[in-house]
Amino acid sequence: MSTDVKKDNIMNVDTVAMDDARSALVIIDQTRLPGEVHILSLTEQKDIWEAIYLLKVRGAPAIGVAAAIGIYLAAKGIQAKEYDVFYAQFKQAKDYLASARPTAVNLFWALDRMEQVVLDNKDKPVDEIKRLLHDEAVAIREEDIRVCRAIGEYGLTLIKDGDGILTHCNAGQLATTKYGTALAPIHLGVEKGMHFKVFTDETRPLLQGARLSAFELHSNGVDTTVICDNMASQVMKNGWVQAIFVGCDRVAANGDACNKIGTSGVAILAKHYGIPFYVCAPTSTIDMSIAHGDDIPIEERPAHEVTEMWYKQRMAPEGVKVYNPAFDVAENGLITAIVTEFGIARAPYDQSLREIFRRKEEAAKA
Ligand code: MRU
Repeated sequence: MSTDVKKDNIMNVDTVAMDDARSALVIIDQTRLPGEVHILSLTEQKDIWEAIYLLKVRGAPAIGVAAAIGIYLAAKGIQAKEYDVFYAQFKQAKDYLASARPTAVNLFWALDRMEQVVLDNKDKPVDEIKRLLHDEAVAIREEDIRVCRAIGEYGLTLIKDGDGILTHCNAGQLATTKYGTALAPIHLGVEKGMHFKVFTDETRPLLQGARLSAFELHSNGVDTTVICDNMASQVMKNGWVQAIFVGCDRVAANGDACNKIGTSGVAILAKHYGIPFYVCAPTSTIDMSIAHGDDIPIEERPAHEVTEMWYKQRMAPEGVKVYNPAFDVAENGLITAIVTEFGIARAPYDQSLREIFRRKEEAAKA
């Protein structure tokens, strides 16, 4: 099922939600932005998988929330009443959703968290486990709002009214349940009456900057300028950028941060021009099991996204080779700080990120 809604302010539309009555995952179809705000209501696992793979729902936190709701819906549909049979089918559904995209760790984080509910409650009837899975999916979604707000509050301490800010890809509300990560300081600042001048790299090849960040910021009344990716150096050289905020798909334990392709280039430029480069990362995106950015799996996507997807006619010769990595890694030495929901981590990141997780554990005990 799908519906079109009026696009007055996209901030008032849920990026990703659960429709209990219809047993559906409800998302904005981001492949149709900014032209149409088209809402999809997905009930089939293959449609949820495809929505993640095709970036109808995208951005690490939103992918995690969509996967949590998706696996709950899969579990709800399992007929078996016997735990072992239920768990085997749950695992199958989990592995299927986990295969949609490889880089954003939130996908695996959310699915593992849902599986843990099944494992921790094996002595309970299957219907009770399904109810607990429902509550966990709702909790993951609600947590995302709190986490993004906290990242926004910490991020806001790093900038001042009137600053020029450059961002790459979309790590805004469209990539999360609310506020975003990299765009959260801007949205929260706007709520407090502050003004920023934001430059959004268009972000080739899928144009998340031009289609999504620019749409979201402009829709929320932010002074927004779209630039082609290769204009970032000129904009920085002009002195128009006081800070760079980006999101990430996975941060390694040493602080290397993997984000949308082109991010590492922006980080290198930032260092050249002496502009602070901030990575906004919920702890659900920090993968302490990966020591180094080189070990983060980088998704490669189909060639047609580069050669024809956004053009009226094909823009590269038939048969030419295409390399289309979806992400790259900004090395920790290029990163001024990593902004999390438990505070701002600075180098040396192996220590500061451990401290962030210590605070997280403390908060869980409180
Ligand atoms: O391929 P995408 O559009 O899912 O890539 C998204 C990004 O790279 C975001 O910057 C990242 O997931 C952080 S979203 C808060």
